[in-house]
Amino acid sequence: MTLKAAMGQFTTGVTVVTTNFEGQDWGMTCNSFNTVSLEPAMVLWSIRKEASSHKAFTQSGSYLVNVLQADQKDTAMRFASGTQSERFANQACERSEQNNLKLTNTVAWFECRLAQVVTAGDHDILIGEVTRYGVKEGQGLVYANRQFGVLAPFKP
Ligand SMILES: Cc1cc2nc3c(=O)[nH]c(=O)nc-3n(C[C@H](O)[C@H](O)[C@H](O)COP(=O)(O)O)c2cc1C
Repeated sequence: MTLKAAMGQFTTGVTVVTTNFEGQDWGMTCNSFNTVSLEPAMVLWSIRKEASSHKAFTQSGSYLVNVLQADQKDTAMRFASGTQSERFANQACERSEQNNLKLTNTVAWFECRLAQVVTAGDHDILIGEVTRYGVKEGQGLVYANRQFGVLAPFKP
């Protein structure tokens, strides 16, 4: 069994993180997002050092984490490959206060000021202080073993 296979057994939610750097919009699918602190409100995610969007996310100063809804598998796939303009083409979204793109129909979003970058092997961990957030009722998209799904809660 490979390390990737073992890590894939850990079920996560799915997000698309966006930023605007030097006038261009950037977005990528990310499942390493996690919450860290309530007071102050802080979250983290990690980005591959070789990602073409690495410079944008580490230098723009802010980013917005879009937590995808159960029916947004196609969005998750689209933001994991192709050019940035292909990713945002026909994507319904609005601009946030910090000029980042907020996708519509997500179950939650967090806009963050980049507070700290921690280098860890082939990734950098981006720690952000949440400056604004929003939430909506609905089911989130989940991911495990390279497959998307929805949570089937146990009945009480
Ligand atoms: C479900 C899923 C989760 C992902 N999570 C991450 C992540 O947490 N960090 C990361 O660097 N890449 C992650 N990726 C891969 C990136 O989305 C992909 O490599 C990136 O969009 C490539 O584009 P870029 O190199 O142009 O930035 C994930 C991909 C998928 C499908």
